[in-house]
Amino acid sequence: MTLPESKDLTHFFSEEAKARKPSPLKTCIHLFQDPNIIFLGGGLPLSDYFPWDNMVVNTPKPPFAKGIGAPINPKTNELITAQLKKNEKVHGGDVPFARALQYGFSQGQPELMDYLRDHTNIIHKMQYSDWDVVATTGNTNAWESTLRVFCDKGDVILAEAHSFSSCLAAAQAQGIITFPIPIDEHGIIPEKLEQILDNWTEGAPKPKLLYTIPTGQNPTGSSLSDDRKEKIYKVAQKHDFIIIEDEPYYFLQIDEYVKDKDERNKLYSRPTPTHDEFVKSLAKTFLSVDTDGRVVRMDSFSKVLAPGTRLGWITGSKKLLSAYVALHEMTIQAPAGFTQSIVSTTLHNWGQSGYLDWLIKLRHEYNLKRDCAIDALNKYLPESPIFTVNPPIAGMFFTVNIDASAHPDFATKFDSDPAKVEQHIYETVVKHGVLVVPGVWFVTEGDTTPAQPASSKQNPNPNIIFFRGTYAAVSPEKLEEGLKRLSETLASEFGL
Ligand SMILES: Cc1ncc(COP(=O)(O)O)c(C=O)c1O
Repeated sequence: MTLPESKDLTHFFSEEAKARKPSPLKTCIHLFQDPNIIFLGGGLPLSDYFPWDNMVVNTPKPPFAKGIGAPINPKTNELITAQLKKNEKVHGGDVPFARALQYGFSQGQPELMDYLRDHTNIIHKMQYSDWDVVATTGNTNAWESTLRVFCDKGDVILAEAHSFSSCLAAAQAQGIITFPIPIDEHGIIPEKLEQILDNWTEGAPKPKLLYTIPTGQNPTGSSLSDDRKEKIYKVAQKHDFIIIEDEPYYFLQIDEYVKDKDERNKLYSRPTPTHDEFVKSLAKTFLSVDTDGRVVRMDSFSKVLAPGTRLGWITGSKKLLSAYVALHEMTIQAPAGFTQSIVSTTLHNWGQSGYLDWLIKLRHEYNLKRDCAIDALNKYLPESPIFTVNPPIAGMFFTVNIDASAHPDFATKFDSDPAKVEQHIYETVVKHGVLVVPGVWFVTEGDTTPAQPASSKQNPNPNIIFFRGTYAAVSPEKLEEGLKRLSETLASEFGL
């Protein structure tokens, strides 16, 4: 089936992106690789002078039979040994150092980009033909680039009512207005989003972007259902805005929490899913419902390989991605050559199926970690309507939601202000030796001029506060001890 082309949505570009002329020096850089051209055109150091001749990279071998994190015995057949060389490829997916460490290839090294295109075809159902991928130094960079590609000072973007504070702060520092969209335990409520846009104040700039973290949302841990994604996409079409899906946790999708340990063990002793079953089990992505080319997806290797790779990629329509490449030519140039070289070799050696094996095994680890956290909260946190915990089905985060008005000193010591209870609890839990972070740090704040109607800014549960914790960062023993301390502190604060 031939797919249609994406729509031209370049009218969303910022003044900066519209004004940017291609760097003239970059227009000829591809000729550096042409053996027929004696390239005297750029300040490229001769690769003979690069001090790295070769590098050996050992990684565990698919299908990672012992699981992820298991010690590897180098004497057995559990390792893949790849040799990266300066001037030649040992394996088709290698990026020789002479090229990887040179200027050029702002879109990303071709071997890595090819791998990511194939990966995209496996994971997403692209609905238009002219899509592509661009390498980034992770989603922090992808978001910063997104703001510069689309937004000018005074522009409005929409975001979940609680969202990743660093991304909100990056937008706000550029004078971009972040407007909150109500969420529940399943993420953005599409009907509320539509209502807000249907009632958008006349004369206020219409939002250009919706910034969303659909899977294992940071900070709430919620995951958007496929059905909600389809509804939100229709609102994006109706009100003409672009959806930015920030998906570092996409592959950390785990099973529903099962409290009964026997039931759970049965579930976990199922045979490992096939690749096909695994892919089918994944949530539908905004990219997969996008017929117009109005979704820009940001993926990162930070949570699935390592944050220090500083490597990720953007997927979207070529019409939009060209502005990212033009920006990157003048900002990051490209992600680091070592990173691209090592990751490309690793992924190509594993193959697409080996990478799926890795993701399947990683998912299992996160199942165990989530279970450990929720088990501990079930064990130590008093059962009371004051506290709610929604076991996450993806990502690294859980929240403990608290009815602040139930605090014995709510009206007296805290002037009936939930924010004061939140601050007090934060300080108290830290004194008791555990750090969880208050939800208030993630509040999406901002309003247009002229302002949006009061009905679009209502908080239905103003007394509910929450604390975000992660089950990713520590050992199960420490996790349990931390949650015991948290639970005991909360029980004592609320007189339970
Ligand atoms: C929602 C979200 N976006 C982006 C990032 C940063 O990711 P990266 O390491 O790819 O820059 C994080 C990291 O915590 C995150 O939670």
